[in-house]
Amino acid sequence: MTDALDIRHYSTDQAREIRPVLLEVYAEVYADSIKDDPFNGIERFASGLDGWSSRPGWTCAVGYHADQAVGYAYGAPLPRGARWWGGLLADVDPDLTRETGTRTYALSELMLRRPWRKTGISRRLHDALLDARPEERATLLVRQSHPKVHALYESWGWKTVGDLRPRIEHAPLMHAMLLDLPQR
Ligand SMILES: CC(C)(COP(=O)(O)OP(=O)(O)OC[C@H]1O[C@@H](n2cnc3c(N)ncnc32)[C@H](O)[C@@H]1OP(=O)(O)O)[C@@H](O)C(=O)NCCC(=O)NCCS
Repeated sequence: MTDALDIRHYSTDQAREIRPVLLEVYAEVYADSIKDDPFNGIERFASGLDGWSSRPGWTCAVGYHADQAVGYAYGAPLPRGARWWGGLLADVDPDLTRETGTRTYALSELMLRRPWRKTGISRRLHDALLDARPEERATLLVRQSHPKVHALYESWGWKTVGDLRPRIEHAPLMHAMLLDLPQR
């Protein structure tokens, strides 16, 4: 199943083309929570996707198995002075949250349809997205109510910065995480 995986890369110019595929996978992966959790609603996700995919430097890696999209990861570089760290509740060195526009790549989404989980594909999508990034580090937010996903990221080398609650309505409490990216 994993041998036949084809990973295709998309950027802002192809966002309109890939949008229906990303929404379809999202609707399946988050089917249980879409109805009950306002933070996971399909409209909110679609508008977040449109915001992210129109950012300069947005990139997306989609995994295909026999031409069927099975999961994806996407993100974009944080702009200078980004609001990303605005909801950070931990007391950290101010330099840690200083965004220059070229310092940090934000991994916004990683998801995989259920039949393809526990196969290593999620890691391959993650690595395909982050491979050869010019930034010095990557960041992500993971819900504190999902400790196993947090542990998964830690097992991939991510370090926890502290608690963060995004300044968005209905936003849950998150762990903010950082990953050092190899410098070339
Ligand atoms: C995150 C994801 C890509 C990882 O895929 P994977 O590497 O194949 O790993 P798994 O699916 O086995 O997930 C690892 C563990 O986290 C748990 N987990 C995964 N997503 C979860 C979620 N949204 N909520 C609660 N627990 C979750 C799994 O049940 C698993 O626990 P287990 O080992 O007891 O079975 C995949 O689980 C997924 O698509 N999850 C839904 C979307 C998601 O939560 N994305 C992360 C956003 S930060």
